[in-house]
Amino acid sequence: MVVDLWKGTEMAIVHRAERPRYRDLRPQSRLTRAGNRQETAERLLASSARKSYDPLVEVDWDADIPWDMHGMTPEWSSLYGTELWDRMTDEQRKTLTRHEAASVAGTGIWFEMILMQMLLRDIYTHDPATPHVQFALAEIADECRHSTMFARSAQRFGIPSYRPKKWILHAARMFKATATGSLAYGGTLFAEEILDMMQRDFMMDERVQPITRTVSKIHVLEEARHIKFAREECVRRLENASWFDRARVRLVLGVTAYFVVTSLVNDQVYAAAGLDVEEAKKAAAGNRHYHDKIREGCAKTVEFLDEVGLIGGPSTVLLRRAHII
Ligand SMILES: [Fe+2]
Ligand SMILES: [Fe+2]
Repeated sequence: MVVDLWKGTEMAIVHRAERPRYRDLRPQSRLTRAGNRQETAERLLASSARKSYDPLVEVDWDADIPWDMHGMTPEWSSLYGTELWDRMTDEQRKTLTRHEAASVAGTGIWFEMILMQMLLRDIYTHDPATPHVQFALAEIADECRHSTMFARSAQRFGIPSYRPKKWILHAARMFKATATGSLAYGGTLFAEEILDMMQRDFMMDERVQPITRTVSKIHVLEEARHIKFAREECVRRLENASWFDRARVRLVLGVTAYFVVTSLVNDQVYAAAGLDVEEAKKAAAGNRHYHDKIREGCAKTVEFLDEVGLIGGPSTVLLRRAHII
């Protein structure tokens, strides 16, 4: 409270104006252009009114499952391209891709739950009569439906709920209770954009289960709005950020991205495909093809976050370890 009051004083404004702002150093690019907050939200609300889906109705949950199809695009599997993959039977590969798809969606549910809380905290004091608040509420409603849809999909395939390791789940309580501004929206982008890149492939891939393709299509269509919202908010929140603010966000964001990306594949997916978990984990850890896919999946987020000054510093080590950069 004291800090907030101090920030509003004339002295603080003069002090801020003297600092070189990040945007002065890097001119606004196509990526970092942010429109007026309310106008953007108005457009997103109109798009949401035109195209929103209820997965409980849109997805044919009762349709027979063609068990000879892949659960997701096999090239996105953590074992694709390894010597172990070559040794696996076709059935094992299909079981593995089904479980990996469910595991990725499970990580999606985890981050969507975090995001819903961050969004609610973020708009808590704003005027609900504004398009900005109303779109944030629409996004929360989208995420509620997405999480149910992902959970339903795994259930339909008879797959258990894959979630991040217990300690990560509990350690993230701190993040979800406190993250705000560019940190909250930057973290959201990491989770939303890698899922988006994968699901764009799943929805087009005729080798993939029909349920997974429909689920992916719904998610890709609705997430496009969330990504736009998160990117623009990220830019706005950084407008007057100091070097110290940026450095702090960079650090926590790097840690967040590391745990999101390394939680995508639950170890138990390998056991479900009848593989030795330790052997499979080792094969995945050394799988250059998979690392390239992860980098490819994160490339758009990394490019954007780099433009706004949120990539760099000590957390780069973690981003490299997770093959994000
Ligand atoms: Fe979502
Ligand atoms: Fe989203």
